[in-house]
Amino acid sequence: MPGAEEFVVTPYEVRGRVDYDRLRELFGTQELTAALLARIRRLAGGELHPLLERGIYYTHRDLAALLDAFEGGRPFFLYSGRGPSGPLHTSHLAQFELCRWLQARLGVPMYIQITDDEKFWSRSGLTREETIRWGLENLYDILALGFDPKTTRVFFDSKSIAALYPLAIRVARKIPYSSVKAVFGLEPSTNIGWIFYTALQTVPCFWPSWAEGKSVPCLIPCGIDQDPHFRLTRDIAEGLGYPKPALLHSRMVPGLLGEAAMSTTGASPENALFLNDPPKVVERKVRNAFTGGRATVDEQRRLGATPEVCSVWALWKSRFAESEAMFSQITTDCRSGTMLCGECKGLLLERIHRFYDEHAAAREKAKGWAESTIVTAPPAGLES
Ligand code: TRP
Repeated sequence: MPGAEEFVVTPYEVRGRVDYDRLRELFGTQELTAALLARIRRLAGGELHPLLERGIYYTHRDLAALLDAFEGGRPFFLYSGRGPSGPLHTSHLAQFELCRWLQARLGVPMYIQITDDEKFWSRSGLTREETIRWGLENLYDILALGFDPKTTRVFFDSKSIAALYPLAIRVARKIPYSSVKAVFGLEPSTNIGWIFYTALQTVPCFWPSWAEGKSVPCLIPCGIDQDPHFRLTRDIAEGLGYPKPALLHSRMVPGLLGEAAMSTTGASPENALFLNDPPKVVERKVRNAFTGGRATVDEQRRLGATPEVCSVWALWKSRFAESEAMFSQITTDCRSGTMLCGECKGLLLERIHRFYDEHAAAREKAKGWAESTIVTAPPAGLES
């Protein structure tokens, strides 16, 4: 168990109070500097997505080289994914929201991986039927964010295996067992699915290069917990003749009860806002959420509250404050004690309910075309 100052961040566990600067040093990723953000802003037509503006994305690997190439007329593609262990919660949307924005602003294609196999191997409580069902449900939610059906492709692992496997064979031969063990810390009892799985998470990084017969750069926006997978990918890329993927890493959005991250399978469902929570449940979770408020109204009016520790402020920051002006107003009013927690939660709930309504309508539409985006065969003319 970690002590008060310790934390754990792996693709399979986020625990403790995460020191994100220290994590960047431990993982050896690069800082997302103001200069890089300014370049993205320019390429995107003068605006930055709030997730970039507010520092939720905070480190990267090789982003500068990817932007150099893009500015030189060499397009890249986006890749991100989801392990379907249950319903999505609002903080899962961050990586896809950034992808959607980059797809629209830069006109680049998007590849989404749904890893129904991974979650069957890594969560012993789930049946195959459940991981497949959640895979589809999650996919509808993701596509409903506004992905372009014309330039979005999905690898749904078990349905796309014929398309993925020829590359997975080559990737798997390059990854030594000792690297997988060092990166994921496998136990003697770990099933062998886990050992192979990382090869499948690598395949989409190379798939467009394989399909087009030339090197196509890849950018992966993801939570920093996924970085270990892609360290393995980057180690073997050049040996297979493919470019190393670039990455953009986000912090994890803290849970409503003050845990390090919202989680689908965490200790309590009260910790996260699931997209299938009915309005009453959303209301209850937000009303009970951990805040940075004071013990009494009087104290809070006098001394103000602490947004940095507040899970409600984290929701404003990661998704629900539409503009920078609004976000800084909320922050100032919180810190000064002008706005109390109850009022803040009420305002947030209005936004959340509106988002859930709009999302439900977009999701119904996405259901109509979702399955047509799933890639089921290798690229034409390549091995079957
Ligand atoms: N392993 C990820 C998860 O558990 C799913 C995933 C697959 C992914 N490919 C990805 C996440 C690429 C980010 C980027 O959720």
